[in-house]
Amino acid sequence: MDRFTIEGGVALSGSVRVSGSKNSVLALMASSLLTEDRMVFANAPRLRDVETMIEILEGLGVRAGWESGDEVCVESGEPTRIDAPYDLVRTMRASFMVLGPLLARCGHARVSLPGGCAIGARPVDQHLKGLAALGAKIELSNGYVEARAPRLRGASFAFDLSTVNGTQNVLMAACLADGTSVLENAAIEPEVGELVAVLQAMGAQIEGAGTRTLTVRGVSRLSGVRHFVSGDRIEAGTLLVAAGITGGEVAVSGVEPSDLTAQLAELRGAGFQIAVEEDRISIAPGAELRPLNLETAIHPGLPTDMQAQMMALLTQAEGRSQISEKIFENRFMHVPELLRMNADIHIDGTTAIIEGPRRLAGAPVMATDLRASACLVLAGLAASGETRVRRVYHIDRGYERIEQKLQSLGARIRREQE
Ligand code: EPZ
Repeated sequence: MDRFTIEGGVALSGSVRVSGSKNSVLALMASSLLTEDRMVFANAPRLRDVETMIEILEGLGVRAGWESGDEVCVESGEPTRIDAPYDLVRTMRASFMVLGPLLARCGHARVSLPGGCAIGARPVDQHLKGLAALGAKIELSNGYVEARAPRLRGASFAFDLSTVNGTQNVLMAACLADGTSVLENAAIEPEVGELVAVLQAMGAQIEGAGTRTLTVRGVSRLSGVRHFVSGDRIEAGTLLVAAGITGGEVAVSGVEPSDLTAQLAELRGAGFQIAVEEDRISIAPGAELRPLNLETAIHPGLPTDMQAQMMALLTQAEGRSQISEKIFENRFMHVPELLRMNADIHIDGTTAIIEGPRRLAGAPVMATDLRASACLVLAGLAASGETRVRRVYHIDRGYERIEQKLQSLGARIRREQE
């Protein structure tokens, strides 16, 4: 296993380009099952999760892999298998998104229930209710979902709550259903918008892009397309916070600034100078780092995937901040590790109260999940002395060569074999 060793105290400076969006490319790779044609995704990030999705697709008898530096290709042809096994799905719950497209294409799919993960129970009831509304016969047995439908039929369905992957799973299935579907209370995260755009390019008939009501007129087949994956809005936010927590001046490029509206508003509220131009966002210190009262929300609110990173930053604010986690039930596991670095944080239910400013002290810390590990790296960049972050395989799931990106900005961080 690898670890990062970080010598804190360097104000980052320079410019860095983010990689393609993890959460977009995973859904887009699943959508490749909707056509027998070849799909090419340029600007795909080299992440463990992308490798896992390639394995899942290959397990279905689909050709998938890297074609050149940053292009992932998927050529479904006729999938020869219809099951996604537990030992892969449990390592990456986004695999569950092959269920809808596989069912729509083959009339039968058997996918392991993803189970919970470090941040919560992560149920998939909305995915299943939506597919059942489209006429799928759903059976749960031995930890697997078995779904059958000779032909899905269009239907109206309202999600009980906003779910990103649930919206994507049901939307993909509806594209090949017989008739029209109306999906209400759909998620509007940028990753949903990007999937809608790619499905439309493939020939899907979808109206209501960007709204919570998607109307889909089913078609009999879809064509393969080439798509340039958008920049990762969470990696961009993480790199901006890396600059902010070290008092540096950094420009982050390769991302759509309108995908970070809430994040940039909060950074401005904390006192940072933020400049936006085309696909480039610059951050510089303000007169002071002001405390904030934050709560995570569905889009266009503050993304839950930025909660841990903002908490690290607010340990440096002049006063009391608080962050309420409204999306997942157990997403404060970075707090005990921050306390070991001399942060002053206490939890009151789903709200963390952060007293600042606190001089963070380097320490050996353990990563528990993707965004918690990013938070610990950020804290290490600001801490005095040395921080060792163990189990960085968590971070490698969602950040491509993060230590190289940070090194290019002047950070003293190195990857070591444990
Ligand atoms: C996506 O997960 C992202 N993952 C998550 O990013 C992100 O945190 C999350 O959306 C919220 O924005 C990918 O896109 C691969 P949800 P998803 O369904 O779709 C509940 C990261 O760090 N729910 O929008 O699984 C659920 O428990 C990851 O990159 C149900 O109750 O999240 C949660 O409380 C972490 N029933 C809430 O909805 C369901 O059927 C939102 O979850 C589905 C979800």
